[in-house]
Formats: sequence, C-alpha cells, structure tokens
Amino acid sequence: MNANKKTTEMKDMKVKLSTLWVFVMFNMLSADILSFMNPGFLKELMTGYAGEIQITPGFLVVAAIFLEIPIAMIFLSRVLKYRANRWANIIAGAITIAFVIGGGSTAPHYIFLATIEVVCMSLIVWYAWKWPNPNNIALDQGEFGGILMKAIVYTEYGPPDVLELKEVEKPAPKDDEVLIKIHAASVNAYDWHFLTADIFLIRLMGGGLLKPKNTRLGADIAGRVEAVGRNVKQFQPDDEVFGDIGHGGFAEYVCTPESRLALKPANLSFEEAAAVPMAALTALQGLRDEGQIHPGQKVLINGASGGVGTFAVQIAKSFGAEVTAVCSPRNLDQARSLGADHVIDYTREDFTQNGQQYDLIFAANGYHPLSAYKRALTPQGIYVMAGGSMAQIFQAMLLGSWMSKTGGKKMGGVSAKIDQKDLGLIKELIEAGKVKPVIDRRYPLSEAAEALRYLGAGHARGKVVITVEHNNDKAQ
Ligand SMILES: NC(=O)c1ccc[n+]([C@@H]2O[C@H](COP(=O)([O-])OP(=O)(O)OC[C@H]3O[C@@H](n4cnc5c(N)ncnc54)[C@H](OP(=O)(O)O)[C@@H]3O)[C@@H](O)[C@H]2O)c1
Repeated sequence: MNANKKTTEMKDMKVKLSTLWVFVMFNMLSADILSFMNPGFLKELMTGYAGEIQITPGFLVVAAIFLEIPIAMIFLSRVLKYRANRWANIIAGAITIAFVIGGGSTAPHYIFLATIEVVCMSLIVWYAWKWPNPNNIALDQGEFGGILMKAIVYTEYGPPDVLELKEVEKPAPKDDEVLIKIHAASVNAYDWHFLTADIFLIRLMGGGLLKPKNTRLGADIAGRVEAVGRNVKQFQPDDEVFGDIGHGGFAEYVCTPESRLALKPANLSFEEAAAVPMAALTALQGLRDEGQIHPGQKVLINGASGGVGTFAVQIAKSFGAEVTAVCSPRNLDQARSLGADHVIDYTREDFTQNGQQYDLIFAANGYHPLSAYKRALTPQGIYVMAGGSMAQIFQAMLLGSWMSKTGGKKMGGVSAKIDQKDLGLIKELIEAGKVKPVIDRRYPLSEAAEALRYLGAGHARGKVVITVEHNNDKAQ
C-alpha cells in the first residue's frame, strides 16, 4: 500500500470515529429528550415518586445510564489512544447542557438527573480539551493502518534521558503545508530550553506549565519535499529545502508551512544545510537589525565559537566590519579561519577591561555585567544580546532599555524570527562562499539525547548535527 493511500485511510478512519462519537452523544441526548417529554416513563421507573425522589432500582438504572455513556466513551478513547475531534465533543456537550438547562422543570428528579448530566458533560468537555492532539500521540504499530515513522518524543521536562525514540504517525500535509523527508537536523539551545524548561518563562509562554505541550523537538532541518498541500506555491516534490520549523525536526518526516522554508544552498550537503537556519538567522538579525552594522565598524563577538558565534563572525565580515572574536584558547584558530581580524582568549584577557571600544558588541555567549559591556562601547555604540548565561539574558532584558536612556549607547537584545527573505539572503551568502556552517559533531537520530547532552554542556564548537537515516523506505 503506498504512503498517500495509507494516510488517506487513516484520515478517513478519524473522520468516521469523530462522526460516531457525535452520533453517540446525540443519541444520548435524544434519550434525554424522550425522558423529559414523557415524565411517566421516569415516574414508572422511580416507583413511589410523589414529589420527592426515592432511590429505587429503577432510578439507579436511569442515573447509571447518564453516567455510563460518557465514562464508557472516555475509557474507549483511552484504549484506542484516540480522541475524537475536540470541537465535536465540545459542541455536542454544549448542546446537551443547553437542552438540560432549557428543560425548565423544577421537579426534584429532573434537577437531580440534570445535575448528574451537566457534571458528566462537563467532564467530557474538560476531557476533550485536555486530551493531547492526536498528532502528538505515539500510535502502536498497525493502529488504524497508519504509516509509522521514527521520531524523538518526550512527555515530561527533564534531562536528555527523558527523550525516547518512538514510532509515531507519519504526518500528512494540510493545504498550506509541505511534507518533508528529513535528512538532517541540528540541535540548538532552543531545543535544550524546551527539553529542560531551565528558563521558567518557557512554561508560561506556551511551552506547557507542568509538562511539554508539544512533545517533539527539533527546529532546524534539511530534507527533500515529498508532498505539498494544495495551496503551496513555492515548492514541489523533490525540492531540496532547509528551514527552521520550530518543533518536530528530530524525526523522519515533518509537515510545516512553506513560509518556514527556503531552497537548500546548492553547495551544501543536507547535514551542512541543517546546521544553518536558527543560528545564522540570529546572527544576521542581531547584527543587521538590532546592531545596525556598517562597513568599517569595529565589531566584537563574545562567544564566537558556538553555533551562533561562528555565523556571527562570518556575517559581520560579510558586512565589511573589522571583527574581534572572543573565545577560549582551543577555538582561537577556528575564529581566525572564519575571518576574525583579532581574537581574544577569554581565559587570559577581559575585553571589557583592556581599554578597547567597539561600535557593536554582539553577545552570543558568556557573561559580563551590562555596565562592563557599556564601558566597552564607543559613544554611539550598540550592544546586542543574543544569549549566554541567565544573568546576561535577564540583565539585558530588564535593564537594557533603561540603561539606553542616558547617552548615545544602546543596550538591547535580539529575538530571532523565521523569515524567508533572510533565509534566502543567508543562502546567497553561503553560495557566494562568504559564510559556511561549522559542524562540530554528528549523531544519528537514535542518539539525539547524546547530541543534546553534548550541546547542553555548553562547549560545542560550531553546530551539532543529527543525521536521519530512512530504514523504513523499503517497507513503504
Ligand atoms: N535570541 C535568540 O533569538 C537566540 C537564538 C538562538 C540562540 N540564542 C542563544 O544564544 C546563545 C548561544 O547559542 P549557541 O547556539 O551559539 O550556543 P552554543 O553553540 O551551545 O555555544 C557554545 C559555545 O559558547 C562558548 N562559550 C561558553 N562560555 C563562554 C564564555 N564565557 N565566553 C565566550 N564563549 C563562551 C563555548 O566555547 P568554549 O568551549 O571555548 O568556552 C562554545 O563554543 C544561547 O544562550 C542561545 O539560547 C538566542
């Protein structure tokens, strides 16, 4: 069976199950309506009813029916690891509740049963809301005949040990999406933050308060387009692409909007291309947009040997700046080979104390108090923080704009955004030979946890890449 056919069957199955679910809900609803239209039926069941409710066997049966159906449906969906369409549940629940409330009877039995039902329906609505998106659920082999692929999945924040290589459903592109067969991905501090929630803000800003909302990691990818949605204009099957997709790149396949992709630079392998997007975009947008870099300026890159720093040195050079790279002794030669005009070994020299001043300081890593960075700026100089220690990040966020109010110096930060034009610009720089990715280590997908552990130790030299082999090809 070919891939597309299987995916379509899987979708059909989901639609059918959603329909079945709604049908059951309305069936239950119609039973309620009948009962309310024919109070004699209820009265009969509740023998002895005389204005006051009596707990008889018949009454218990009715009450059990109200409780039973929703509980059975919840149980069933747990067993099937499947949730019917969230909105189908909510609409069915809301209609039922509206009917119950609108029933209007004040008879005690009605109020009692209506209360049970409202509680049950609220339970279903809550459950439907809470149940994770089916796209994130790892299905077992063979369920619904879906095609499976390998992906790195995590369901709780923690160290890299919480990552698991699982078989999950291969995604199918929506109308505006591109399905990519991933050949390589790269690891970023971004993935580390979403894995460990070491920055608490991650939990508050959509990551998930107690556990990750999105159970997949991997922003940077490179691969080949396998299929496109009907509204996709820029790409077609077989195109080689790279991009920053946010989440889901540590997998064999991913679907993503076309706006997050660009054609892969022709002179790069998939592994090299996967090393580029997030780090290069951060360096470009930090230097150009926040740093307002100009030819001939004196620019200092602090943390010049990591993923962002290696791109920052080269991009600053491509803008015609005179670049000073700050790194540890083992990385000085690498910085020179990337084009740095001057290098400073941070273990021997503190650049904020040596009397030199720079038009632009780009802080990719490390830590110096904001006041020290300010001292090392020329009178109209600009400081741009990309990352580094928590102290560096929070000082720049909290004090940056306040410290920029006096004098001509500006203290700020960059928050990189996926931008197709910028990806295109970076592709041009790479194809012109002005920028190249530096790859430190490569890991297979099955060792993604090791890759993250290495990155998390904080001493990667350039980028850490994950290579994706497609052993399932034969089976499809
Ligand atoms: N703002 C944004 O939009 C954005 C986007 C991407 C990344 N970031 C942030 O940018 C930061 C850097 O990312 P990255 O990908 O470059 O990280 P990375 O690759 O993990 O950085 C590792 C490098 O940092 C160097 N380093 C460590 N401590 C240093 C110090 N005190 N002084 C100078 N260099 C030091 C290490 O060199 P040694 O081993 O020689 O010390 C190593 O080469 C991270 O904090 C990340 O969260 C921000």
